[in-house]
Formats: sequence, C-alpha cells, structure tokens
Amino acid sequence: MATRTPLVAANWKMNGTLATIRPLLHQIKQGLLSADNPEVTICVPYIYIQEVRDVLQGSKLSLGAQNVSEHLSGAYTGEISAPMLADFSCRYVIVGHSERRSFYQESDQIIADKFMKVCAQGLVPILCVGEQLQEREAGVTEQVIARQLNEVIHKAGIGLFENAVIAYEPVWAIGTGLTATPDQAEEVHGFIRLQLARHADAIADKIRILYGGSVKAENARELFSRPDIDGGLIGGASLVAGDFLAICQATR
Ligand code: PGA
Repeated sequence: MATRTPLVAANWKMNGTLATIRPLLHQIKQGLLSADNPEVTICVPYIYIQEVRDVLQGSKLSLGAQNVSEHLSGAYTGEISAPMLADFSCRYVIVGHSERRSFYQESDQIIADKFMKVCAQGLVPILCVGEQLQEREAGVTEQVIARQLNEVIHKAGIGLFENAVIAYEPVWAIGTGLTATPDQAEEVHGFIRLQLARHADAIADKIRILYGGSVKAENARELFSRPDIDGGLIGGASLVAGDFLAICQATR
C-alpha cells in the first residue's frame, strides 16, 4: 500500500475579516513550525487570497481557494478562473462542496468542468462528495457517491485523479455538530477507493481521501486513525487556531 501523506485543509467558507484572519493565520503558522506536522492548506475567500499568500510565504502551509469558475475566461461577471487562482499561487481548489451543489445548483457536469479547469492549471482539486440525510436513511449512500464520482471520472478521465484529492463530506454532518462515526466514514472511504480502483489501482492506492463534517479536536484522532482516512476538510474548527492546530496534530 502507498504511504499517503496526511492533508488537513481548512475551509474558512464566508467567514472572517482582515481583523480576524490576520491573528488567526499568525497563530496557525506559528503552531505548525515543527517538522512533524501534516501537509496543511488554508482555503480562503477569494478576496483574501493575496493577503494570505503574502503571510504564508516561506512557510510550509499552502494556499487554497473554495471555488472556481467552470469557464476559462469571458463574460462571466463575478466569477474567478483557474488561471487567476494560479496567478496567485493557489495550490488547492475545493470543487463541488455540498454548499455549492445545493445553494448554487452546481450539477455533477459543472463540477466535472471545474475539476478539469483546475487540473489544467496544474492545481490540485479537492473534489467533495457526500450524501444527504434522506439518502443515507434510504440506504442509497453508495449510489449517490458513485454517481458523483463517476460523472467526473467519465468527463475528466481517471488520469486526472493522479493529482487530485477527494473529500467525503456527509451533508448531514456539515456544520451540524453531528459527525459520521469512524466506522461510517471508513466504510464510505473504502467504497470510494474501490470505485477508483475499478479504473486504476495505482491511483486508488495513492489518492488522499479526506473526511469532512464537524471534525473537532476531540474526534479527529479516531477518524484519522482509520486506514482509508487521509486527513480532513475542516470548516468551523478551522476558525479557531487552537482547535485547528489540535486537529492537525491528530494526524500524527
Ligand atoms: P464543518 O464544515 O467542519 O463546519 O462541518 C466542513 C466543510 O463543510 O468543509
């Protein structure tokens, strides 16, 4: 089995102002100075990308975006393209977050287009998949995840997953305080790896699959100890330096 370097990605969502993100970043940067930390990326609102890039310069933390346009350029008022993100040294881009899927009607097709645009710039997509509560209760979790994955695999090609990250985020666990149990999460992570292995064993073995959905300092270690959970995508807890640092340490 490949050894996968754990990745912890902060997803600040639409939170913070300069007055709050400056001290937060400073504390995170200081807290991650030692060598045995996981890889860490901070996915920030577009408008703070330049500020965060400057602060992170020279550190081991990388910069990420929370979204990207499915188009390369043109008359798309208010949108940000993958080449623009590349211009500002973004390394990771979250694609297909459930909040984008549900509040902004992003379809699997649009998400596949975004995934391809990110890869074409040499950036790394963090492709989010996950079921709604009704879907879990109806016993169709695997079908939902398979559909979300396969749409991207068919359109983009399995080869692009060589340089991608997947985040399993059960929608019912996001921001709700409900976390999937380590067993529930591991089961779906294993399923995702199996789906990828049907196309390419080596990619399935190598790809990092993050868990997201109410990860906290208290539950992180047990989640990350499971063989197919390679780190986390952290929303609320990434806005509190001490909590986020404890989650990063839980990957050790
Ligand atoms: P949460 O968000 O940690 O606040 O549940 C996770 C996410 O949506 O990425």
